[in-house]
Amino acid sequence: MEELKKKIEEIKSLEDLEKVRVEIFGKKGILAAEFAKLKDIPPAEKKDFAKGLNDKKAALTKIFEDIKNLLEQEALNKRLKSEAIDVSLYGYELKKGSLHPVMETMDKIIDYFATLNFSVESGPLVEDDFTNFEALNLPKNHPARDMQDTFFFKDKNLLRTHTSPVQIRTMLKQKPPIRMIAPGAVFRRDYDLTHTPMFHQVEGLVVGKKGEVSFANLKFILEDFLRYMFGDVKVRFRPSFFPFTEPSTEVDISCIFCEGKGCRVCSHTGWLEVLGSGVVDPNVFKAVGYEDVSGYAFGLGVERFAMLLHKIPDLRSLFEGDIRLLEQFR
Ligand code: PHE
Repeated sequence: MEELKKKIEEIKSLEDLEKVRVEIFGKKGILAAEFAKLKDIPPAEKKDFAKGLNDKKAALTKIFEDIKNLLEQEALNKRLKSEAIDVSLYGYELKKGSLHPVMETMDKIIDYFATLNFSVESGPLVEDDFTNFEALNLPKNHPARDMQDTFFFKDKNLLRTHTSPVQIRTMLKQKPPIRMIAPGAVFRRDYDLTHTPMFHQVEGLVVGKKGEVSFANLKFILEDFLRYMFGDVKVRFRPSFFPFTEPSTEVDISCIFCEGKGCRVCSHTGWLEVLGSGVVDPNVFKAVGYEDVSGYAFGLGVERFAMLLHKIPDLRSLFEGDIRLLEQFR
């Protein structure tokens, strides 16, 4: 008895406990063997013998259960300790994304024109010479091609230098009337405070019957659009030159930084240039086979709009992917 008791008490693990349980309490175990002796005991002693055995079994069972509880408790404690979570520790902060300021500005511009029922068109970034230049009244060797520092491919294709070729593509596949905008990326060999080799433009084109669409319509819609974008600003149309429009105008707004008083941003002129526009040159309509139509067109740089709206001093910072810039636009 003492020996068995000691054996149980010395058990250190639940696996050993199971082994000892089989050894002592199992069908072929020590206790079973002792109970088997019962049949050879003289009837008079049977009762005492059986009682003795039962007491012994009960005592061992009690010790066994105690040890079992103890070991189970230990195992549980060990597990709780190893799987513990310290809820007081700081977690990882999940970073939320946001729209890039250029895309946000683009969306705002698109919203304005979509509300006026302009369709939103697109074209390829890799253009051919005809669509990017020639059809836009920029013949080969025309000095105005210099205005657009072009990336050429070996095969004469090029990265489009403006969104104006989408005017051509849309007119080639649709009949007038047309009322479209074309937002998208464009490319020029240029890199400084206010230029990056890739930037975005939104092009606009409206074509109707001859005499139906005039410079007056252009003036009205651009003034309304610029006040929608920049609030209560003055708008000024300045004569300019684009090969694909005649007359051509550049459009300025009164400086939103100094309210027209003159500051560094507006080079002390009180005005900021924001758009190119004009009445579509007849040669452009000729190139796409349109007859008896008139129209106006405009083009703007989205980054420039975004910079003005958010007072971003260096255009290049929009493309550095620095999360600290983007976090300011949540
Ligand atoms: N395509 C011109 C540019 O990129 C902008 C423009 C578009 C001007 C339409 C007039 C009309 O500079």
